[in-house]
Amino acid sequence: MTRIIQLSDIHMVDQGTLAYDVVDTAEYLARAVSYIGDLLPNIGPVDGVVITGDLTDHGREQQYARLKELLSPLDLPLCVLPGNHDDRDVMRASFPDQSWSPDHDRLNSHVQYGDVHVLALDCLVSGKAHGFLTPETLDWLETELALLGSEPAIIALHHPPFLTGIRHMDAQPLHNAQELLQLIARHAGAKITICGHVHRYITSHQVCGPVMIGPSVAHAVSPDLTEDGASQFCLEPGGFLLHSYDSSSKIFSSHYLPIGPYAGPFPFKF
Ligand SMILES: [Fe+2]
Repeated sequence: MTRIIQLSDIHMVDQGTLAYDVVDTAEYLARAVSYIGDLLPNIGPVDGVVITGDLTDHGREQQYARLKELLSPLDLPLCVLPGNHDDRDVMRASFPDQSWSPDHDRLNSHVQYGDVHVLALDCLVSGKAHGFLTPETLDWLETELALLGSEPAIIALHHPPFLTGIRHMDAQPLHNAQELLQLIARHAGAKITICGHVHRYITSHQVCGPVMIGPSVAHAVSPDLTEDGASQFCLEPGGFLLHSYDSSSKIFSSHYLPIGPYAGPFPFKF
């Protein structure tokens, strides 16, 4: 069994500051790391961690350094990709060990955790809230998937390639979502697509199979599906996803895990 943890939208801030003057994102990450550490004996072993963008709130060097320090207790291989709050050049310099694709300037990468290949895509458009995959990035993905054949793969990016019904988030979409979905669908084998950006756990079944948005470990986008829903966030419990791949059945399954601690566990009584 291969197990991969997906964290998303950490929005690390500078020491002594809060995201939107409200959220201590460092404290939320520290709490998540501690909780996952406590959980590992029950859910592990875990082969790697993927962070689906918005690692930082402003893309500053010190924010990436703070993030790495707070993640270090997990002591797991880490694969990162940029979100619209990140800075491509600062991020590249902050993660010199990541095997970025050498073919062009986007932060695309391919890592293998256990039996699963993770293809991480850069859909950042600097200075903009929406996402876009360049023709070079799509060509790179096409080539990587062709080389993998029927091997299991997770395609990871920040902006989801589907609309969620949360209007102010749908107004900043992945512009070439259909191109991505059709590209993935052309390739055989077990594949799931994972994203962030919306700070909520949302799933969708697309032509290429399941597509999941992972929750933030910190603040959530408010669950407002009304026509004129305001751009707001709330502090419902943060969470993360655990993606498992069983090589005998060739099936992925994904757990949503809210970050505790909670009361329990308590034994069932019959
Ligand atoms: Fe975000």
